[in-house]
Amino acid sequence: MSLTARRRTLLAWAMLGLCTLPALAQDRLPANVWTASASVERGRALLSNRQDSGCVLCHVVPGLGGGGDIGPSLLGLAERADAEQIRQRIADPRLLNPGTVMPAYFSTQGLQRVAAAYVGQTVLSGQALEDIVAYLLRDQSPAAHLGSRRP
Ligand code: HEC
Repeated sequence: MSLTARRRTLLAWAMLGLCTLPALAQDRLPANVWTASASVERGRALLSNRQDSGCVLCHVVPGLGGGGDIGPSLLGLAERADAEQIRQRIADPRLLNPGTVMPAYFSTQGLQRVAAAYVGQTVLSGQALEDIVAYLLRDQSPAAHLGSRRP
């Protein structure tokens, strides 16, 4: 292999690396400035609001009655996904499935920058997104969503 060909091969591998690494990272959005101030109660109110968030139009949500079946049931979500994955799926599900019918509620870029300039352009504010994540991560044992007391 000539020196030029070897260089080209190296370059090709480097480019492949650049393409794959960010793609994997996109599966998860890290915690952010709103995570610490998240409220489970606000999250519940947001999730049950048919006009603003519309989540229950497409999902069965633990602890809330009714719920649509266009999207997967969110029962037991905390057992199959962590906070970063749940956050990413709400913020911009198109990164995982470009053809999804689920709206992108918060852009990746907006979440990683100072919010002020972006808040108006997203369906949910950064705080609202974190409130929803907090609700979905709370104790989801069957007793918790039936509202019964535990022993
Ligand atoms: C128009 C219907 C629709 C609306 C509204 C909607 N979703 Fe979804 N959602 C989906 C579909 C469909 C999927 C399956 C993923 C896909 O399409 O790739 C999904 C996937 C998800 C997932 C991943 C679930 C899993 O088991 O992998 C989460 C979490 C989620 N939605 C949360 C929400 C929340 C929170 C809201 C409201 C802020 C919401 N969704 C609003 C349709 C919707």
